[in-house]
Amino acid sequence: MAQILLTFYILMTCLAMNVHSQQDYTGISSQDCDSNNQTGNNSQPYLYACNGEKRFCQAFLIFKSKPPYNSVKTISNLTSSSPKELARVNNVTESQLFPTNKEVIIPVDCSCAGQYYQKNTSIIIGDSETYYVLANDILQGLSTCNSLMRDNKEGELDLIAGMELKVPLRCACPTRNQFRNGTKYLLTYPLNSGESVSDIGERFNVTEKSILYANGFSEDDPNPTIFTSTPILIPLPTEPSSTSLTIIQNSDDDTKAPTFPPLVGSDPRKQKSTRKLYVVIAITAGCSLLVLVVALSVFFLVYKKRPKGLLLPRMGTRRLSPEDLRAEIASFEKGIHVYEIEEIKKATESFSSERQIKGSVFYGVFGKDTTLAVKRTRKDVFKEVNILKKLNHFNLIKLEGVCKYNDRFYQVFEYMENGSLREWLCENCSSEKNWSWAMRIQIALDIAHGLNYLHSFTKPGYVHKNIKSSNILLDGNMRAKIANFGLAGPAMDLETTTTTSTSTDHSQRTTASHVVGTRGYVDPAYLATGITTPKIDVFAFGVVVLELMTRKNAVAVQNGREVLLSKAVVEIMEGDCPEADLGVFIDPSLKEDNRYREFALRLAKLSVACLKREPESRPSMAEVVSTLSKIQADHLQKIDL
Ligand SMILES: *[C@@H]1O[C@H](CO)[C@@H](O)[C@H](O)[C@H]1NC(C)=O
Ligand SMILES: *[C@@H]1O[C@H](CO)[C@@H](O)[C@H](O)[C@H]1NC(C)=O
Ligand SMILES: *[C@@H]1O[C@H](CO)[C@@H](O)[C@H](O)[C@H]1NC(C)=O
Ligand SMILES: *[C@@H]1O[C@H](CO)[C@@H](O)[C@H](O)[C@H]1NC(C)=O
Ligand SMILES: *[C@@H]1O[C@H](CO)[C@@H](O)[C@H](O)[C@H]1NC(C)=O
Ligand SMILES: *[C@@H]1O[C@H](CO)[C@@H](O)[C@H](O)[C@H]1NC(C)=O
Ligand SMILES: *[C@@H]1O[C@H](CO)[C@@H](O)[C@H](O)[C@H]1NC(C)=O
Repeated sequence: MAQILLTFYILMTCLAMNVHSQQDYTGISSQDCDSNNQTGNNSQPYLYACNGEKRFCQAFLIFKSKPPYNSVKTISNLTSSSPKELARVNNVTESQLFPTNKEVIIPVDCSCAGQYYQKNTSIIIGDSETYYVLANDILQGLSTCNSLMRDNKEGELDLIAGMELKVPLRCACPTRNQFRNGTKYLLTYPLNSGESVSDIGERFNVTEKSILYANGFSEDDPNPTIFTSTPILIPLPTEPSSTSLTIIQNSDDDTKAPTFPPLVGSDPRKQKSTRKLYVVIAITAGCSLLVLVVALSVFFLVYKKRPKGLLLPRMGTRRLSPEDLRAEIASFEKGIHVYEIEEIKKATESFSSERQIKGSVFYGVFGKDTTLAVKRTRKDVFKEVNILKKLNHFNLIKLEGVCKYNDRFYQVFEYMENGSLREWLCENCSSEKNWSWAMRIQIALDIAHGLNYLHSFTKPGYVHKNIKSSNILLDGNMRAKIANFGLAGPAMDLETTTTTSTSTDHSQRTTASHVVGTRGYVDPAYLATGITTPKIDVFAFGVVVLELMTRKNAVAVQNGREVLLSKAVVEIMEGDCPEADLGVFIDPSLKEDNRYREFALRLAKLSVACLKREPESRPSMAEVVSTLSKIQADHLQKIDL
C-alpha cells in the first residue's frame, strides 16, 4: 500500500512539475542552425513552449536600436508591432529616432501556434544575409535560426536579397503559477555582455528567484551560466517602463564607444569582479568629461583580460621589405567612377528582367560595348566601397564605379562571364562540363592568391569573412575572382589593440551577436569568440577546396538531416582508410585521371589543415599558395610526361 501511495505521489509530482514547469533557458544552442541532429527530425525551434495559462497575451521584447532599425517606425515595422503602442511604452513620440544601442521596448501580441508561442512578423532579406545572421544579428536573438528554417521553405543557399521571409519572434505568456504570484507579463530580454541574473533583477525591480524560476534555472545556483545575446524571460508585475532602459555600450557599431572583450560562452561567475565596472561604465559613458577615464579603464581591463592563445601576427610592425613596397604601390587608391543614375538605367534597360543576372545583380552595357555588372542594394555600401577601392589584384573583383540615388546604392563591377563557382560546379548537373583537375587546381590557386593579397598585402590587412563558392566568380577564361566584400573588415591585431592608444584604431572586438558568415563555411572558433582573424577565411577556403573536389554543396541534406561537407571530409580523413573513402566521395569525373588518388589526397590534406579547429594550427594563406603551387606544378609535369 505504501508503495502504491509512493508511486502515486511520485507520479503526481512529476505531472505537477510538467504542468508548472517554466520555459527552459536553451543557452547558446538556441543560436545554432543545426536543426537536425542524429536523433531524427524533431528539430527544436528554440521558441517558448505553449504552457501558459492563456494561449494569447500581451508580451514585450527588448531590442537594441541599430540603424536602419533605429526609429519607432522602422522598429515597429520590423516586428509588426503598433507604432503607437511602441511610442507610448517607450515614452517617446512616433517620429522618434533612437541613439544606437538604446534599448527599446517592443509590445507584441503573443500567441500559440501549435506547440510554441510566437509573434509573427516578416522581413525582406538583404544582401548576403543568412538565417543565422537574421536570427542572431539583425533580430538580436529574438528569433532563432531553426524556427526561421522551419517557417520558410527556402534553403539556406536559396536566399536572395529582396525575398520576404516569415519571422517568428520569441515571446511567452505567464503560467498559472506566475499569475498567482503577480506576474502579468513576460519580457524577452537578450543578455548584454557581463550581465548576471541579479543585475537584471535590480534593473527591472523583480526578484532573482522569479527570474531563475521563469527560465527553468535551479534556485540553488543563483549564478547560472548565461550567454551574451541569448534571451531570457523576465517576469514583470507591471508593464516595463522606459526608465529601466539604457544605452548599451558594447557594440562594434559605435566606434567612439569603448568596446569589451568577447564574453560569449564564458561563465559569468568568473566575471563578477569586472561586472561592477561595466555598470559604472554604462552610467558614465554619456558624460563626456569621463570618457577618457572610461576608455583608459576599459583598455586596462582589456589588456588584463586578453584571451590567451589568440595572438596574431603583427601586421603593422614588419620591417620595410620588398613586400611592403608592393603593398604601398598596390594600395594607391584607384579612381572610382561616380555614375549618374541615367547611365545606370540606360545600361541595364531600367533593370529589365532580361538584364537580370541573379537577384539584385544585373548586367549593363555601358557606352558602345563595355559590359559590366550592376549590383543594386538598399544597404549602405560605403564601407564596402572604401575597402574595394584600396584593392587592386587580379583575383579580387574590380569595382568600376558607384552611384547613389534615392536611398539606393549601385555598384558597378567587372562582368564575369562564367558566373559563380557554385553555379559552375552545379552539383546536380546532367550536362558535362570541362571539370578537369587542372582547372580546379587553378581556381583554388586563384582564390588563394586573392586571399593572400587581402590578408597580407593590404593595409590594414583585411578579412573577407564570407568566402564561399557563390562569392567566387569566374571570368571568360575561367580564372577565379573573389567578390562580395559586404562583410569584409580589418583583421584584428590584438597586440597593437591593447598597447596603443584609443585614437589609433576602432577595436574590432565583437560579441557573437555580430558574427557574420554563411552556414557551412563559418569558422567555429570565430563563432565562439567573435574575433576577426584571417584564419576565418582560411577555414572557409578549406570548405571551398572540398567543393572543388566533390562538386557537392557545403551544406547537404541527407536522409532529412543536414550534413556539413567539412565535417564529412574530416571524418573520412581521420578514419581507417581515407584513400578508399575519399575515392567514393570525390567527383566521379575526376577519376578519369589515372593519378587522381594522389592529387585527391593532397588536396584533401590541404583542406583538412585549413579546417583545423584551432585557428593557430591552420596554415596561412601564403603557405596555402605555396602548397597549391607545388601541387599544380606536379600536375602539369605529370601531363607532360
Ligand atoms: C541531438 O538532440 C538531442 C536533444 O534534442 C540532444 O540530447 C543530443 O545531444 C543532440 N545530439 C547532438 C549530436 O547534437
Ligand atoms: C522526418 O521527416 C520526414 C519528411 O519530413 C517524414 O516523412 C518522417 O516521418 C520524419 N521522421 C520522423 C521520425 O519524424
Ligand atoms: C514594412 O514596410 C514595408 C514598406 O515600407 C512594407 O512593405 C511591409 O509590409 C512593412 N512590414 C510590416 C511588418 O509592417
Ligand atoms: C516621459 O518623458 C517626459 C519628458 O520627455 C518626462 O517628463 C516624463 O516624466 C516621462 N514619463 C515617464 C513615465 O517616464
Ligand atoms: C503565425 O505563423 C504560424 C505559422 O507560420 C501560424 O501557424 C500561426 O497561425 C500564425 N499566428 C498568427 C497569430 O497569425
Ligand atoms: C519595486 O517593487 C516593489 C514591490 O515588489 C515596490 O514596492 C517598489 O516600489 C518597487 N520599486 C520601484 C523603484 O519601482
Ligand atoms: C510564489 O510566491 C510564493 C510565496 O510568496 C513563493 O513561495 C513561491 O516560490 C513563488 N513562486 C514563484 C514562481 O515565484
